[in-house]
Amino acid sequence: MKPFLFRLACVVCLLLSGAAGLMLSLHREHDTTSTLLPATPNGVQTIQTFHYPESFSEQLKHNPHPGEAVFHQYCHSCHDVHPVIPIHAPTVADKAAWRALSKVGMAQLVAISAQGVAAMPARGGCFECTDKQLQQAIVYMMKRAGVDFSD
Ligand code: HEC
Repeated sequence: MKPFLFRLACVVCLLLSGAAGLMLSLHREHDTTSTLLPATPNGVQTIQTFHYPESFSEQLKHNPHPGEAVFHQYCHSCHDVHPVIPIHAPTVADKAAWRALSKVGMAQLVAISAQGVAAMPARGGCFECTDKQLQQAIVYMMKRAGVDFSD
């Protein structure tokens, strides 16, 4: 009987040490993950956003207002009324600026947007946007500014 008990104790011991090892490794993994997370200032929550160009293009195809969607995804950072990136892009509240731009002609505006100008990146950052979608975003911004493109 004694050797049997001894063997049983050994098996139990092995099982317990295995479980302890597993718990320790899980604990370590958890620790590493939490130290890798960026430190946030007190009380400030960070929000991580993701952008998938392929699914954005797919969504645009079915969106009845593609210009508005492109604006909200890209152009708004610089062209909104209170832009997140204030680098003096004509805002959607600047009727005079968009009226003047409308005189430049749409083909030219699309070409400039595609190439980028001054601090504006090529295609306004929307590399998956077609020229037509850039144009729709421009027309949307003009409308927001109260400029009818036929002006
Ligand atoms: C990173 C900021 C930024 C983003 C994002 C951006 N723009 Fe601009 N945009 C600018 C700036 C700055 C100007 C003014 C450039 C200048 O000095 O003439 C400008 C000017 C323009 C103009 C007028 C061109 C001209 O001759 O002045 C058009 C049209 C335009 N942007 C379209 C777009 C569209 C469409 C998008 C989104 C797809 C977009 N922009 C996104 C910064 C931006």
